Amino acid sequence: TRTTVGIVGAGPAGLMLSHLLARAGIDSVAVDHRTRAEIETTHRAGILELDSVRLLVDAGVSGRVLTDGHEHRGIDLRFGGESHRIDFQGLAGASTWLYPQTAVFVDLADARARDGGDVRFGVRDTAVADVVDRPVIRYTGADGAAHEIRCDYLVGADGSRGICRHAFPESRRRWYFREYPYAWFGILCQAPPSAAELIYARSGRGFALISQRTATVQRMYLQCDPATDPTDWPDERIWAELQARLAGPDGFRLSEGPIIEKTVLPFRSFVQEPVRLGRLVLAGDAAHTVPPTGAKGLNLALADVRVLAEVLERAVHRQDPALLDDYGVRALARVWRAQHFSYWMTTMLHTPPGADAFDLRRQEGELAALVASEAGRRYLAEGYTGWPAH
Ligand code: DHB
Repeated sequence: TRTTVGIVGAGPAGLMLSHLLARAGIDSVAVDHRTRAEIETTHRAGILELDSVRLLVDAGVSGRVLTDGHEHRGIDLRFGGESHRIDFQGLAGASTWLYPQTAVFVDLADARARDGGDVRFGVRDTAVADVVDRPVIRYTGADGAAHEIRCDYLVGADGSRGICRHAFPESRRRWYFREYPYAWFGILCQAPPSAAELIYARSGRGFALISQRTATVQRMYLQCDPATDPTDWPDERIWAELQARLAGPDGFRLSEGPIIEKTVLPFRSFVQEPVRLGRLVLAGDAAHTVPPTGAKGLNLALADVRVLAEVLERAVHRQDPALLDDYGVRALARVWRAQHFSYWMTTMLHTPPGADAFDLRRQEGELAALVASEAGRRYLAEGYTGWPAH
């Protein structure tokens, strides 16, 4: 096969890019080692920034986000057993939308299928070569035969464990990396929502996040040791721990129900610079990973490909890969802000193992100062709802 833009990875970043390029009259082929069913059933983030919602709607990908998604005009920060509302509308004039990443993926995959997009799921042994001058993607198809896609430009949208970032020789890139001494235990449960909006709760027992999915299914997370084995956590133990982390003098209780999924999510921060080598560029988690607190990962990936589609269009028409550097400059400006925001939300709300009395009291001081200050609350609201495109 020959195509203008070869894309490794058919998650939200790869599919949105393929869709936007098609609208600009540029052909692409996307490949992914996962099957469509595998991607659809892997539970990920749940919160979209306004600009992400706009992109899905304006690009003709999803009307469903407006009918099935839920606008959230704020969140609760909870500490010392008390809730403090951060009013996004009042502080930043913006909302976020609860609409799960799995739904974003389904909408994108349906839109690509509807428009005749070339998306190849379930391929094996994917490799990339000659990325500087004459990129090629090689893979083994479901039929066992070897395939080759020659492309003018190659985009690595293959996530944090992908192959494309490894196509940059060590001498040509730098990796920025931070590990955290904790993880999240994520659950889905069959219960009604426990609150109108999301609750980010700090407690002496560790962090907990109360999110939502539908009227009958909820998503919750609790800070845990990265080595946690979900089978050590029967439902009763999870509920007791969540209730204890949310408890306070206001008598707040979570609505409980059967837990239908349990997973441990790793926590790390990562950025690769530069994001371009010759005719290869990275987008989304392939270029950068953020810890989940604050729900920036999917939003960053969508912001990347919105800029990348525009810059690629110029590079294709002028036949000049150097124009892609503009993508790197614009994307990384947002990425590092989001890195800081995610790091800040994470470290402000989680209890580091081995924290001493000073650490814990200092953390309470930070949260008390934040919610007491309109400027502090506005800073959080601006970061959470997303910075304007540039
Ligand atoms: C969800 C995940 C997040 O990391 C977050 O900050 C908010 C919500 C979620 O899965 O619903």
